Amino acid sequence: MPITETTAPQTFDVTYVRSQFPSLSQTVNGHPAAFLDGPGGTQVPQCVIDAISRYLAMSNANTGGAYATSRRTDAIIAEARSAMADFLHCGADEIVFGPNMTSLTFAISRAIGRELKPGDEILVTRLDHDANVSPWTAMAEDRGVTVRWAEIHDDCTLDLSDLASKINQKTKLVAVGYASNAVGTINPVKKIVQLAHQAGALAYIDAVHYGPHGLIDVAALDCDFLACSTYKFFGPHMGVLFGKREHLKRFHPYKVRPNTNAIPNCWEWGTLNHENIAGITACVEYIAEIGRQSAQRVPYPSRFSKGGNSNSAGAELTRRAAIETAYGAIHEHERSLLERMMAGLKRIPGGRIYGITDPARFHERCTTFAVRIEGHTPLELATKLGDRGFFTWDGNYYALNLTEHLDVEKSGGFLRIGLVHYNTAEEVDRALAALREFAAS
Ligand SMILES: Cc1ncc(COP(=O)(O)O)c(C=O)c1O
Repeated sequence: MPITETTAPQTFDVTYVRSQFPSLSQTVNGHPAAFLDGPGGTQVPQCVIDAISRYLAMSNANTGGAYATSRRTDAIIAEARSAMADFLHCGADEIVFGPNMTSLTFAISRAIGRELKPGDEILVTRLDHDANVSPWTAMAEDRGVTVRWAEIHDDCTLDLSDLASKINQKTKLVAVGYASNAVGTINPVKKIVQLAHQAGALAYIDAVHYGPHGLIDVAALDCDFLACSTYKFFGPHMGVLFGKREHLKRFHPYKVRPNTNAIPNCWEWGTLNHENIAGITACVEYIAEIGRQSAQRVPYPSRFSKGGNSNSAGAELTRRAAIETAYGAIHEHERSLLERMMAGLKRIPGGRIYGITDPARFHERCTTFAVRIEGHTPLELATKLGDRGFFTWDGNYYALNLTEHLDVEKSGGFLRIGLVHYNTAEEVDRALAALREFAAS
């Protein structure tokens, strides 16, 4: 079904974007599939699929061998490390690969925990995905460390004064999410990093949900660690951790003896998923390409990018500058989807939207919507939507502390509609029409 995009901003070409994703052309029961499940994992462009299969076809080997495919594997991993360094804005030796964000966070929490003692404190938040909570609380239990919780306001934003009041000289680590995978709130992480550092604590950022929506700049944030998952931003199922070089060198990983003591490999255990790592470079390149194309439409430096040569077209951008430009264009497109979806959700009879709903505060949220409709469980709604080809989610999506706090856990959590840059205004309108129909039934 052709997509007619009437609200697409000039810098962003959703038709080009969609043409890169083979999965988007599927149908369900004769209905076009609408992937509104980005927060659970995004679709992948053809270039990522190609990079993964090319690796398996031509370079499949373990690392460190004295022969061609093994050397190619080493080179492919090094390339992916430097692609992720451009993506996060750090050194390639500060990039650690792992199976997913949760495993990496458990590993770091164990290593940090080795240095903590009873009486030390850590701070977690009520808003976070459990992957940035349980690794810390489990470690705290083992080490006799006190866990403190930052609470939230009714609109599902962090209560910053509560958070600040719970950081003190005993605080050793503050774990906070960049954006909520349940209600879409974007947290002021730079400010939170500063609060942590003023008390001498480390700041660990979960950027898994923020990754597809906004530019990540670990240098500007000055965070100590930041974890993300490439399968949430159009790449393969992998986790990636940024750790400041000094911390990766100072903390001691649990590891096998033959593994190197050199960073970042000492933080990587066993044989990694090399084909997926090949796909990571392709996914970063895919995002950079959006920036290059966008820069060709708007003279560079555009209003989204800092610095650069004013005569350069997209092709001459550094990869980091292209990524910055891409996120500017993605943001503009997502903002129009956000306004459209929110306006429509507000008009659904019996509907309740959790999180920020005021357009004046849309810069504090992304395109992830948690809703409930009176008389219908989230699972019923997700199932009916699924039968019509709308892929959404229901439940707590592991933001369990939030659903318990809001007292929706016992009644099925929320229906989550998550939009990313390949979604369209037309998909938003169709999903809203279906929800209006279900609400009336
Ligand atoms: C905000 C957030 N943090 C952490 C995770 C866990 O990521 P992973 O599946 O890579 O362990 C998720 C997964 O949905 C998430 O949405």
